[in-house]
Order: sequence, then C-alpha cells, then structure tokens
Amino acid sequence: MLEDHLISAAHLSRDDIEAVLDRAESVDSAGRAGHGSHDGHVLALCFFEPSTRTKMSFESAMKRLGGETIDMGSVESSSVKKGESLADTVRVIEGYADAMVLRHPSEGSAKLASEFVDVPLVNAGDGAGQHPSQTLLDLYTIRENAGLDGITVGIMGDLKYGRTVHSLAHALTNFDVRQHFISPESLRLPRNVRYDLHEAGAQVREHTGLEEVLPELDVLYVTRIQRERFPEEREYRAVAGEYRIDNGTLSDAHPDLTVMHPLPRVDEIAPEVDETARARYFEQAHNGVPVRMALLDILLGGDR
Ligand code: NCD
Repeated sequence: MLEDHLISAAHLSRDDIEAVLDRAESVDSAGRAGHGSHDGHVLALCFFEPSTRTKMSFESAMKRLGGETIDMGSVESSSVKKGESLADTVRVIEGYADAMVLRHPSEGSAKLASEFVDVPLVNAGDGAGQHPSQTLLDLYTIRENAGLDGITVGIMGDLKYGRTVHSLAHALTNFDVRQHFISPESLRLPRNVRYDLHEAGAQVREHTGLEEVLPELDVLYVTRIQRERFPEEREYRAVAGEYRIDNGTLSDAHPDLTVMHPLPRVDEIAPEVDETARARYFEQAHNGVPVRMALLDILLGGDR
C-alpha cells in the first residue's frame, strides 16, 4: 500500500500504480514546473551508493513541488565513516525531514531502515534487491508508448543482480503482460523472483538469445551488467559485452518496438539506436521527475 514506505514493487497493487501514473500524467499535462503544494516539506537524500538520475530527479521533483531537500552527502563525508549503524543514521535523519530516500549496497537495507522510522521512506535501490520508484517511471514510459495491457515485454541483460529488473518483473504481474527474460545462464532471474512471478500467475519465459523472441516484443528493456555486484572480476569479464544491441540486431523487431534502459548504459545499446524512433531511454529518465513528483505528493499526504 502506498501510504507509508515504498520498499518493494511486490507491495504495489494495480490501483497504487495507476494512482501514481495518473497523477504523474496530470503533472505532465499541467507542465512539470511550479506545483508549490509542499512548501515547507523537506526530503532527505541518503545515498550510500553512486547515483545521478535517481538522486537528481528526486531532488528536482521535491523542488518542483515547492519543498526542499537535504543531502547526507557521500559516505566518506558522513558519520557512517565513523562506524554508525544504518538504523542510527536513519533515526537521526528522520528528525530533519518529512520523507527520506535511501540507496544502500545491502539487499534488505531499506526494509530494515523502514522499521526504525515513521516518515515515509523510499527504497532507491538496496543492493541487488529492489528499486521500486524506478519501476514506476518505467511503467509510466511503457504505458505512454505501448499501453500496459495485452503487451509482450522482453527484459534483457543482468537479471540476477539488476534491481530494476526485479522490481519491474513484480510490478508487471499486475497487468496483462507476457514477460520474456533474456540473459546468459549465469545471470538468470534469482530463484525467489521466479517463484514470486510463478505465484502471481505471470506469463513468463526465459531465453539465452534475443533472436528467438525479438519479433514478438512490444518493449525491449535492456540493462547494464552490474559489474559492482560480481564477487569476482573474472566472472564479470566472462559475460561483459554479450547482449548488446544495435540497429542490425533490431532489424527483425516489430516496427513499433519501444527500447528502454534504466541507464547508465555502458555498451549495451549502440549509440546509433539513439537516433531511431524506438529509443525511449532518455525520455524514460526524464519521466523520473513527474513520476517522483506524483509519488512524493502521495507519500506526503497531498491527496488526503
Ligand atoms: C539503476 C540502478 O541504480 O539500479 N540506475 C538507475 O537508478 N536508473 C540501474 C543501473 O545502475 O544499472
């Protein structure tokens, strides 16, 4: 339920998702600037891992709502460096803000932190776990470009460590969506995610090659191999550079295929694809602003 924290996309119902997307759409149609309904509200940004899009779009969203942001800064410059626990850190920051956004390298950290705070906490990535606010902007982009029912989505790349993948796969089970997962054998979806999809009755298939499924896809969601999560660099090198797409790879695709990527990309999508009408990843990143405005507005009680 979208009333307190947002920890996992598995907790989002279709109604929750549609409430955010509809509100984001009205933000968009009214123009993204100047919705000053949260004057005096403060959002705390707590990023224990690098971030560009997530952090800056939350910041932009809060400012466009008329609120303010405070930033914990880098781990190097915070008291975490002195050995403070995550629980203590968030308990203190809670007193400075009306909501907080947390990114942390450990899976489960957002859930743990949420048990220590009363202000709404958004999980902006917990290791290889979940990244549900990314999913909301992904769904917004899919809905705008392909609709959210009666479609076929391919999710390709690092399905094991990719938290955006885990969140998106969970959320898509709320819609009539066939999901195809394309990855090397070693980077298949984790067993717990496969189990949840099965329990949700999702229409899921797994593949090691894109060719066999590409012509069926309405959306292709490409992901970066999550180098920082591999225990051994050697294991990363064994799969790096596979699963790249360029205009040649996409020649058998449906003419209306939508290509998405949560970004940052390394080499998964050749720059030549950027120039085609299929490329939606920059628009997707920009959608982070209206979607996070809508999310913050709901979490901060804008609709109550
Ligand atoms: C993603 C993340 O941090 O999980 N980035 C993002 O928030 N858009 C994807 C990635 O780092 O590959």
